[in-house]
Amino acid sequence: MAAGNSFFGYARGFEIRDSETIMDIIKCSLSEYYTKSLILDLYRAWPQAFIVYDNFDSVSGFIIGAKYSGTEGRILLFAVKKELRGSGIGKMLLTQELNVMMGSGLSTIRLEVRTDNEDAIRFYKKNGFSIISTLKNYYSDLSDAYLMWKII
Ligand code: ACO
Repeated sequence: MAAGNSFFGYARGFEIRDSETIMDIIKCSLSEYYTKSLILDLYRAWPQAFIVYDNFDSVSGFIIGAKYSGTEGRILLFAVKKELRGSGIGKMLLTQELNVMMGSGLSTIRLEVRTDNEDAIRFYKKNGFSIISTLKNYYSDLSDAYLMWKII
């Protein structure tokens, strides 16, 4: 957690009742469009890897992981409400996700991030990810992604 900041809540598994809040966070934080049915499909595919941050009032962040191969995990979607960023919620969610992935026998983790998303790239580098390559025209608006990777 960043010095001087404080937060109050805990990480737990996603529940269906969180769906609308998760959709709101996605709309405000991520540039791609995702449907609620896709989000629920991702949950059903690997429920333990869909983790939310609950501050007792509401959910203020989430992370969704998936299995990319027998040994590799992937972070698919990850966001924290804008007004609460920089207070350690993202690090807590990522740590829980890595624990789930390690517990499932995965040994590496990959993700894609927009090349202009400086906050997220800095966050991932601080948390041990490295840029492996650039994926040209990766997003629907044809902007590029970095492929980032970490051994866990
Ligand atoms: N915003 C972000 N980070 C800040 C801010 C701020 N206003 N102020 C300070 N920071 C610093 C923190 O101090 C911390 O650094 P530290 O580890 O040295 O203390 C770091 O930046 C952020 O760490 P956390 O607080 O743990 O992370 P946060 O809760 O901000 O979540 C996240 C990180 C999820 C990337 C968040 O920035 C976010 O939601 N971004 C918008 C959505 C996004 O880009 N998601 C990732 C897309 S890629 C994908 O999904 C695979």
